[in-house]
Amino acid sequence: MATVRLKIDGREVTVEQGKTVLDAARSLGISIPTLCHIEGLEPVAACFLCCVQVEGARTLSPSCALPAANGMVVTTDSDDIRAARRTALELLLSDHAGECIAPCAARCPAGLDVPGFVYEIAAGQNDQAMKTIFDRLSLPGTLGRVCPRLCEQGCRRCDYDHEGLAIGALHRHATDRNQAADEPALPRAGEASGKRVAIVGAGPAGLTAAFYLLQHGHACTLFDAHPKAGGMLRYGIPEYRLPRAALDAEIDVVDRLGATFRMSTRWGSDFSLTELRRDHDAVFLGIGAQLSSRLRCEGEDLAYSGIEFLRRVAEGESPDLGHSVVVIGGGNTAMDSARTARRLGAEVRVLYRRTRTEMPCLMEEVEGAEEEGVGLEFLVAPVRLARQGNGHALTLVCQRMELGEEDDSGRRRPVPIPDSEFEVRCDTVIAAVGQAVDRSLAEHEGLELTGWGLAVDEKTLATNLPGVFAGGDAVLGADLAVRAVAAGRIAATSIDQHLTGQPVTGPEELAAIALRPVDDEEQAAIFRDIEKAERVPTPTLGMEQRLSSFEEIDQGLGDEQARAEALRCLSCGCAKAGGCGLRRWATVYLADPYRFLGRRRRFARDDTHPEVVYEPGKCIMCDACVRIAAEASEELGLSITGRGFDVSVAVPFDASMSDGLRHAARRCAEACPTGAIALRTGRACDLAGCGGCSAETT
Ligand SMILES: Cc1cc2nc3c(=O)[nH]c(=O)nc-3n(C[C@H](O)[C@H](O)[C@H](O)COP(=O)(O)OP(=O)(O)OC[C@H]3O[C@@H](n4cnc5c(N)ncnc54)[C@H](O)[C@@H]3O)c2cc1C
Ligand code: SF4
Ligand code: SF4
Ligand code: SF4
Ligand code: FES
Repeated sequence: MATVRLKIDGREVTVEQGKTVLDAARSLGISIPTLCHIEGLEPVAACFLCCVQVEGARTLSPSCALPAANGMVVTTDSDDIRAARRTALELLLSDHAGECIAPCAARCPAGLDVPGFVYEIAAGQNDQAMKTIFDRLSLPGTLGRVCPRLCEQGCRRCDYDHEGLAIGALHRHATDRNQAADEPALPRAGEASGKRVAIVGAGPAGLTAAFYLLQHGHACTLFDAHPKAGGMLRYGIPEYRLPRAALDAEIDVVDRLGATFRMSTRWGSDFSLTELRRDHDAVFLGIGAQLSSRLRCEGEDLAYSGIEFLRRVAEGESPDLGHSVVVIGGGNTAMDSARTARRLGAEVRVLYRRTRTEMPCLMEEVEGAEEEGVGLEFLVAPVRLARQGNGHALTLVCQRMELGEEDDSGRRRPVPIPDSEFEVRCDTVIAAVGQAVDRSLAEHEGLELTGWGLAVDEKTLATNLPGVFAGGDAVLGADLAVRAVAAGRIAATSIDQHLTGQPVTGPEELAAIALRPVDDEEQAAIFRDIEKAERVPTPTLGMEQRLSSFEEIDQGLGDEQARAEALRCLSCGCAKAGGCGLRRWATVYLADPYRFLGRRRRFARDDTHPEVVYEPGKCIMCDACVRIAAEASEELGLSITGRGFDVSVAVPFDASMSDGLRHAARRCAEACPTGAIALRTGRACDLAGCGGCSAETT
């Protein structure tokens, strides 16, 4: 047997004559990325991802098609090679017509696999839905109730039925149902690693860090200044939006995983960060934004702090507010204070210095407050607060505002209108104008700070102190529960990497290619034969009960309603998102999908085949399917058609995929390096009841 001897990355290797440089490198255990190369098929060298440098050659060569030769000296990795691979990927992506993940999932700060769990609900697989949900979210029942649902704004149903899928209501439904089950599907604690993590703050960020760290087997102790866990979810958000039983059931999951709770214990007075670092292998700081911003006007001390008011009500008190209450602010705390005060029997007026459109809270909260009789006045700011005589009644002097230039937040700045002062008489003023992070303690312990919170590495959430990580409102300033949950998960991954001696890089996020704006023809391809379907409404509590109790307003979807709503999902995103070579290598080589933006191919879909779906805009012309079909002696098979930009794989004579691939469809889908030919997920079609195909769930 004739052999050749060559050197790859400084190592000698002997291989049979006829082998390629790629074969030779692999025999040495050297990995070279490939995309168009399919084991067992003749190379076509279409993608150039496998390029290497041969000593003496002026240009790089594709190793999959380069015969190994005696005396060859090959380099498989260098800055030039990496740059060439990145460019090769960017060129492939420049005209790619596909989207890796569904637009809803792309908008969820926690990256929940929305089409995945929604499909499982529709299929009646609630345990599996919980597994998918828990992969990205702790507290999914809570988030289903309070999350502003950025995902729903991105839902493709919005382009079609005007109303996105009720995603939050669906993960709430799955969770409520799971909690009520005899044997709920819950995550399991990992095998004990012997490592100990201290978590300061048992709000959503700290609870989530514990939720994932315990699954890795690390012991977690949560220290919190409040008597009970939950942070602002318990002491801020009122019961009519988030019943305590629902929150407690989710905290119980963390408890059952083995967390230790050290409540009513304050960092700063009961322990120091130095002590925590001495006694633990890592620390997570999730202290939130607990300080209430002041009104910044004369007499501000006479105002009640919104979060203080909500905390007292959450602890079972019923503060005496008098008859008339003025709430100042336009965010969640303002709406929650106003609606809580209404439930305590007061007449309530909210004053906000901008307009309705600039309010930083959910519009349904504003509408809910108005329905309950809360009066709202816009473009009004406080100037002075004083007592009326010696009694409890107050006089609030206000000023009218108009909107000026945009400020740093992108909202138009309110500007006072001269000589527009007027008086408001009331019994109580509640200041709900924002929360801030207590940074003094962190600074004292040597932590670096930003202008609004603790400074961290964006990807890993590591602080400047080794082994100390931080996330949630403590880093972002007063923000959203879902972002605190996302931060807890990122920190848990980084801390696990730190504890197990790996490089601390945070969770791996695969590159995601989005589908650039589509025209009508492409819309039609996306929506196929999908029927219009109105969003399933959620039952709500009657007004009389609302105002006389703190009972939950949103009563949640029933089983049938949840299934009907889940069936509205179009299962967007790519069927091969988890196994696509193009996406994987684009991540590894940090390819910028938009570097060579130009005309892209059209999005089209052939879903006539019972086993596979074909989307030509994702094809990279590796020819594998054409050759597999030929080897399988398909009668029609596939061929490359068209010219230049419009070249693509197609069934000859304009026949459909079901005619072209009678035997080899599955093999073609398995070999396809992208999602161009993919096994049907079986989601949208068979659940909708057509039952006409042998679709499989992958
Ligand atoms: C009234 C109100 C309504 C809201 N409504 C919504 C909503 O509808 N949707 C939404 O997404 N978000 C809402 N939010 C925001 C959301 O609650 C927060 O973004 C989220 O709770 C932040 O989580 P966290 O874990 O970072 O901090 P937190 O929830 O604030 O938890 C921090 C924890 O750290 C503890 N702690 C602080 N300092 C110390 C210390 N020195 N020692 C020991 N423990 C300490 C605190 O006691 C607390 O338990 C609302 C917030 C408020 C105040
Ligand atoms: S084929 Fe790959 S790169 Fe294209 S959309 Fe699918 S997963 Fe993303
Ligand atoms: S239809 Fe389903 S998968 Fe598509 S964007 Fe909406 S929720 Fe996401
Ligand atoms: S956590 Fe919020 S943004 Fe994410 S899927 Fe649920 S409702 Fe949507
Ligand atoms: S050119 Fe070698 S894998 Fe594509």
